[in-house]
This record gives sequence, structure tokens and C-alpha cells, in this order.
Amino acid sequence: MSEIYRASTTAPVNIAVIKYWGKRDPKLNLPTNSSLSVTLSQSDLRTHTTASCSPSYPSEDALLLNGQAQDVSGARTQACFRELRALRQTLEASDSSLPKLASYPLRIVSENNFPTAAGLASSAAGFAALVRAIANLYELPSSPTDLSRIARQGSGSACRSLFGGYVGWEQGAATDGSDSVAFQVAPASYWPSMRALILVVSAAKKGVSSTTGMQTTVATSSLFPSRASETVPRRMAEMQKAIQEKDFETFGKVTMMDSNSFHATCLDTYPPIFYLNDVSRAAIKVVEVINEAAGRIVAAYTFDAGPNAVVYYLEENEKLVAGLFKAALGDKDGWKGARGDKVESNADAL
Ligand code: PMV
Repeated sequence: MSEIYRASTTAPVNIAVIKYWGKRDPKLNLPTNSSLSVTLSQSDLRTHTTASCSPSYPSEDALLLNGQAQDVSGARTQACFRELRALRQTLEASDSSLPKLASYPLRIVSENNFPTAAGLASSAAGFAALVRAIANLYELPSSPTDLSRIARQGSGSACRSLFGGYVGWEQGAATDGSDSVAFQVAPASYWPSMRALILVVSAAKKGVSSTTGMQTTVATSSLFPSRASETVPRRMAEMQKAIQEKDFETFGKVTMMDSNSFHATCLDTYPPIFYLNDVSRAAIKVVEVINEAAGRIVAAYTFDAGPNAVVYYLEENEKLVAGLFKAALGDKDGWKGARGDKVESNADAL
């Protein structure tokens, strides 16, 4: 029997506080604006992936997600496989004693411990884990930055899940995408009291995929050009400064305003895209009530391409924020202890 080579890894979900929305190159997933996210702790939301390869496998590459066979023929998955195989081939060419793994069929087995495609950034954790698992299998000397460039081609936001803590994605200017990579703004340990409360409003698959949504927004929204060229660049600078200064008021205000701006461009798209629903709007109201009662910003909501709310707050305001949500929604399933999800400290150490 021929040998099976295998490597496993996990990658956490990241939730953007400055949203990526718009592609200047849909093939390479090159964005129209830079973005910034917080990588969550592995404890609750993560993808676990095992990559294996063997000359004994059936000739086609295969991917199983939560036990279901997935189509790997799509350009995005193929781009990741191709780039990683090319790097392995370079290694094999320089050392003839290495097994010829790049020529063997791949089998990828992934498990999410949260609803897939419900606006919970499942593709981000999914492609980040897929790319790192194969890189580990191939024993590539690639840095997280190199891997972010590859994962970006699977799903844009995936590039940010290669780093822990507070992570930016520089839109870059090169047409080949070589400078469109993720970078760490600060490790989670720099501002360790950040917490994220995730309200799963609906675990159903989202109505309009992010790729389709982005394309229609770029093509039709009149708000979009100013968001991409003026609003986001200004907020990227404000957000990085807020993180450096551990200034939650600014962090929270910019987070909420950027979520509102992103969903405004969705509404301004023709035909309009509605990701938020009445429960999402009720969550916004609760955050406003909490902040009004506190007399300052202690909680910040943000929504991706779906109705689920993520509420950022600092540990010292646990009672004020998570406590109030728990008082209102405590009868619902899924409360994993008193705390929200902790920010991941260092994705490299996974
Ligand atoms: O990476 P994608 O194609 O799933 O797009 C993600 C888009 C948002 O989640 C809405 C924003 C972001 O920056 O993560």
C-alpha cells in the first residue's frame, strides 16, 4: 500500500470592522478598498482542516466540508491548489530526495463548528485553513504574508484569518495582486480585553452571495465610489490609531459607522440588497440603548453579508453589554458561558 501524507490545522473566523466590499479584479479577488478585522478566538468559531495526499488516491482532488463533498473545480479553489503545488514543485526541484507530493491527488477534510455561509465569515476560516493545511502538508517555508496572498484568491477575507489579533488587508496597487496581502496591526495580547458577542439571527444560507453582491454594488451604487475612495481610506487610518491607542470609543464608533456605510451601499444597489432584517435592527437598537445608558460607547455592532450581529465590547463592560443581551435573550440556545468570544492571540501558534 502506498503511503498517505497528512497535515492538520485550524483557522479562526475574522469579523471585519472596516468592510471589504467591491472587487477591482474578480479573478484574483483584488479589492477596491483596504479593510481591517479582528480575528476571533479558536474556541468557538473555527474551521478544522486535514489535508492529505497519496499516489493511491483516486486521480481527482477532493474536498469534504462538514461531511459533504464539495465542488473543487471552481476557479478560486483551483487557484489555491495551483499556487501551493507550484511552491511544492520548486522545493522538489531543488531537493530530489523529497517525495513528489505535488503530483499526488489531494483530499481535504474540513469541519466548521458554526453555520456555513450564514454571514459568519465561514469562507474566511475555510480558505485560510485549507491553504495552511496544504502548506503544512507540503512543508512549505512560506510566511503568513505569503499564505495570505494565496488564501485571498480563495476568498478575499480569508487572507486576514492567517494572522491573529487586529489584522489589516492592504488593497495594493499591483495588477498581479502581489502587494494585496494581510498584515498584523497588533497582536490580540496588545489589547486583550476585546470581546465579541455573536448573535446568530439566522443560520440559513445567505440570499445574495458576497461575490454577486459586490459586483452589483460596484456596477450600480452611487454611494459606492465615495465609500471606496474617501470614506474607507480615512477610517482605515482612524481605526489603526484607535487600536494603537486602545481607544474603544473611536474603535466602536468607526466600526458601527462602517457597517452602516457598507449596508447603505447594499441598499443603494440596484436591485437593492437587504442583508439586515428586523432582528438585526432590534440588535442595533439594543446597542444604542446600552451606549446611551452608559453615557459613552461601550458596545459596537457590525454585520457582514447576513443578518447576524457581532457586538464588540471590552471585558470590563461584560455586565453592561453581554449581561443585557443575555437578560433579553437568555432563553435562547447557544450561550457558551458568561463571556463573549475572546480575540485570538496568535494564529501562528495554532
Ligand atoms: O471574502 P468574502 O468574499 O466572503 O467577502 C466578505 C465580505 C464581508 O464579510 C461582508 C466583509 C469583510 O471584510 O469580511
